[in-house]
Order: sequence, then structure tokens, then C-alpha cells
Amino acid sequence: MPDVSVLDVRLHGETIGTLAHLGGDRTIFAFSDSYVAREDRPTLGLSFKDALGGLITELPATQRRVAPFFANLLPEGPLRDYLARRAGVHAEREFFLLWVLGRDLPGAVTIAPADGEAWPPMADDGLAEGAGGDRPDALRFSLAGVQLKFSAIENRGRNGGLAIPAHGVGGAWIVKLPSSRFEGVPENEHAMMSLARAVGIDVPEFRLVDLDAIGGLPEGIGRREGRAFAIRRFDRGPHGPVHIEDFAQVFGVYPERKYETATVRSIAQVLGIESGAESVAELVRRVVFCVLIGNADMHLKNWSLIYPDRRTPRLAPAYDLVSTIAFLDDDGFALKFARTRRFDAFGREELSYLAEKAGLPVRPALAVARETTERFLLAWEAEKAHLSLPAAAVTTIDAHLARLPIVRGV
Ligand SMILES: Nc1ncnc2c1ncn2[C@@H]1O[C@H](COP(=O)(O)OP(=O)(O)OP(=O)(O)O)[C@@H](O)[C@H]1O
Ligand SMILES: [Mg+2]
Repeated sequence: MPDVSVLDVRLHGETIGTLAHLGGDRTIFAFSDSYVAREDRPTLGLSFKDALGGLITELPATQRRVAPFFANLLPEGPLRDYLARRAGVHAEREFFLLWVLGRDLPGAVTIAPADGEAWPPMADDGLAEGAGGDRPDALRFSLAGVQLKFSAIENRGRNGGLAIPAHGVGGAWIVKLPSSRFEGVPENEHAMMSLARAVGIDVPEFRLVDLDAIGGLPEGIGRREGRAFAIRRFDRGPHGPVHIEDFAQVFGVYPERKYETATVRSIAQVLGIESGAESVAELVRRVVFCVLIGNADMHLKNWSLIYPDRRTPRLAPAYDLVSTIAFLDDDGFALKFARTRRFDAFGREELSYLAEKAGLPVRPALAVARETTERFLLAWEAEKAHLSLPAAAVTTIDAHLARLPIVRGV
């Protein structure tokens, strides 16, 4: 048995580097020479870009885990545990998880054993003890996040239903199952995405689906009654995968640090430099919207970049918009805006400061904030009685709105 295992990392199907598992439980990623030499190379991620726009090719080895860019391709929490258990791989052995899940990752990255080896060497301690998993073919799907969710395909025979593909690969929808902890999360997300669309935020196609209209859901997982929230994947286009990365990848931080290390200001700065005014305006629109609905969970993994031309990023469509205050009392955003994370301290002054420090023009940001607030209040008053939201949630959001300086400023 070789003591080095190698995974090919592919972008749009082209091998651009290798991830090697070395002795001493270290892993290291290296770009291939052909990728480094290519001038029009597709972008893997902004964290591989140096200050002059060149490619960073000297990458440090990591101990036990894979580097943050790759760790962020894997699911978190219960979904990771579930997939690891099914594969018979230890949930913390990220290299081996990539080995078994690498065919369906977020974006246009795929990962596969370099020599076509179907399965990591059995003697390796990457496998959980007494592993009796289902073998990789049964679980080739992967998406980051804490709730249980699956990649699904449209099931035309079943009247608007969805199906979890047996091999996980190829699904163009994400299905988020109801939470076992809170009542009505899919309905809340559906309501918030509808409002987001009404204020002009870029949202993918989405709908609520009866759980019994979803075929192929694995046994013994999540709640079986009620409805699931389904959203079309924006990283799967008619001509194949579209590349994306989330802001934990952009900033090179491990998923468990998604609430730290960066601020809305730093996201704005990246968008200002790499993407331009349209993405910055969309960021402001979404931040204001999330303040208004009381979404306290917009951590770094809930913001992504998308690469439609394979090289230049813009802010990806919105996802995971939930009024979290309907479930858990919280007085602040997941990230600091610039100096504060408090909802009731987010007004013209904080936004102006944020824009200035991010090197962005202040007046357009203020104009977008005002317009978003106005549009939201109109949509909210018109729709709040008709959305899939319980009366208590409407009351909570109304009370929250009454406390916000951003609302009083309109
Ligand atoms: N429409 C979409 N297209 C492509 N990728 C998506 C889409 N929606 C979600 N994702 C990806 O799936 C991941 C999980 O989805 P989402 O954030 O909605 O779920 P979650 O379980 O609520 O996450 P969280 O950990 O924030 O609670 C996201 O981080 C993102 O990478
Ligand atoms: Mg999320």
C-alpha cells in the first residue's frame, strides 16, 4: 500500500492541482504546472490570489485537516456526520471525506483519486473503526450547512415533486428538510425569499414541497411530515457547473470560524475591488433586508461569489434568508457591520462609516439602503398577512421593525 494518497482537484473538469495525504497525517495542495502557466486560467478562489493579482503557489501543508478552502467544500454538523457514517469514514477525516464526496461539491470543483482508486486504502486510519458503510457510490452528494439538505432533481412524473438521485450527482435543486428543533423553518424561509424578491434582491427559483412528494429521501433522517424548502442551485447551469466559493473560503477561515474574523465591511471591500458597483449595491440591499427581517445568521458561509465567466466574481444569488428572530431572540447580525453588530445601531452613520472604510462611495450605498427599506416596508405591509408565517412571527417582526433606526430614517 502506498503511504501517499493523491486526489486530483479539477475545475470545470480540468485537473488544476493535487491534494496529497502525506506521512504524519499531513495534507498539502499544489497547483499543476499547466494551470500555473495558463494566463487565462479559471479562478479557483480569491484566497489563492496575491496582492498583485498573481497566483499563490507556495501553500503550506496542514496537519490532520485539509486547508480551509477545501474544508469549506464539505458539509458541516449533522449532515457531515450522517454522510461520514454512511461511508464508514471518520467525520473529522476531511481528506477521506473529500475522497468519497468529491464528485458533487459546491461550484465547479470536483475531487477524485488520482490513480482511479475507488476507495481509500483500507488499512488507513481515515476509516472509522469497524467501518461497515454503504460505500461511496451511495452518497455522492455534499453541501455545506448545518440543517439536513440534499441535492435533488425535478421529478416530472410526480406533479411538481423532487427526487434525491440515488447517486447524489446531478441534482439541480437543494432540498432543506424541516428542522426537528423549530417549527416552520421552511415556511419562514419561503416567506423571506418572497419578500427578498419583492425588494429586488437576486434570488434563485424556490418553492415549498410536501415531504411525501420527495422521492429517494434516505431512511431515518430528519422529520418526515410537513414541507421542505427547495431552491434551485445557482452553481448548476444548463451548460454544466458554474463555479462559486463562499466568503469563508475567500478569507481562508475554517467553517467553525464563520462568525468571526471578518465583517460586512471586509466583504464590501472585496466586492468593491473584485466585482464592482453592482455587487456592492446588492450586498447593501441584502444587509439592510436582513436587518429589517431580523436575520441574525448571515455568517461567512451565507455569502458566496459566483464566477459566470470563470474568472471574475460577482456576488452570487441570495440563499438562507430566514427571519431568525422568529425562533430565537437576538439583537445583532452574525458579523459586525463595521464597528457593531447590533441591529439597533445600524443606521446611516454606521453604513457611511462602513462604505468609507471599505473604500466605496458613500452616497450610492445610502441611496440603496433607503430604497430597500422603503420597498421592504411596502411589501411587508401588503404581504404580511398572506405569507407562510404564523401570527406570532408577524408580531415579532413588527416589534423588531419599530425599534430600528434604519426604519425611522425613512
Ligand atoms: N441555491 C443555491 N445554489 C447553490 N448553492 C446553495 C444554494 N443554497 C444553498 N447553497 C449552498 O448550500 C449551503 C447550505 O445552504 P443553506 O445555507 O441554505 O443551509 P443551512 O443549513 O441553513 O446553513 P446554515 O449553516 O447557515 O444554517 C450554503 O452554504 C451554500 O453553499
Ligand atoms: Mg447557511
